[in-house]
Amino acid sequence: MSGRLVGKNIFVTGAAQGIGLAIAKAFLREGASLFLIDRDHGLLAEQAEALKQAGGKIGYLAADITDAKVIASAVARAADEIGPINALVNNAGVNVFSEPLETSDEEWNRCFDINLKGAWNCCKAVLPGMIDGTGGVILNIASTHAFTIIPHTFPYPLAKHALLGMTKSLGLEYAARNVRVNALAPGYVATQKVIDYWNSFPDPDAAKAETMKLHPGGRIASPEEIAMAAVFMISDECPFMNATCLTVDGGLSVQQHPA
Ligand SMILES: NC(=O)c1ccc[n+]([C@@H]2O[C@H](COP(=O)([O-])OP(=O)(O)OC[C@H]3O[C@@H](n4cnc5c(N)ncnc54)[C@H](O)[C@@H]3O)[C@@H](O)[C@H]2O)c1
Repeated sequence: MSGRLVGKNIFVTGAAQGIGLAIAKAFLREGASLFLIDRDHGLLAEQAEALKQAGGKIGYLAADITDAKVIASAVARAADEIGPINALVNNAGVNVFSEPLETSDEEWNRCFDINLKGAWNCCKAVLPGMIDGTGGVILNIASTHAFTIIPHTFPYPLAKHALLGMTKSLGLEYAARNVRVNALAPGYVATQKVIDYWNSFPDPDAAKAETMKLHPGGRIASPEEIAMAAVFMISDECPFMNATCLTVDGGLSVQQHPA
């Protein structure tokens, strides 16, 4: 540990597995105090207790980010347990992939409720404390879907485009109040979500090989590689980085097509 996040009291959503869990582990190594949120009660308790046993300064609560009231009280409880929240990582998100005209209202609502409104609920809950305090930093986990489109993944990219819009909007609104708001855009990352995506194809191994081939380096990211970028963006090492997006995709999104 080199203490890059000492003094940061960070609210992290979707922290029970995948990118969120890797972020929590990396933040703890850098000396942060954390309050972890996930809607998966069992998995969150298991992971958070293991991190606590290892000496991490952690509080946690099973909660759904789509419930604004629950999130507001979770932020109040987090402040009691670990101190005033001065950093937020909006990581919880779900894939909702369809063909536009086949997308049901339920799918549309679930996609925007979690991927956009849920992130806003958390921003709305932490921002007053940041503005009235000594400032803060918000990191929205977006995606390369925030600025590119893959056919048949509707409406997920729309929600991620909007998350990027919210990042820019809030970053501008509160810059003079010492609050930075940025987005991090991963490409494919090796989490359960991606394994589920491969398993949705008749031949999952072929789908996996296709995904690897799309990447200039022939592989996808590990959750830890995304977490390393998140440490930098939450830390005080980039104080003038605001209202922008850092892409961490191994070069995927700048390639016109694979060779
Ligand atoms: N895995 C990828 O390839 C990839 C690529 C780009 C962006 N992302 C984004 O990164 C983030 C994390 O993805 P991941 O692959 O680690 O996902 P994951 O499915 O492995 O983990 C997501 C976690 O969020 C929790 N969650 C989902 N909805 C929630 C809700 N309403 N309230 C509280 N918790 C909720 C889940 O229970 C789960 O533990 C997402 O926002 C996703 O869109 C992922």
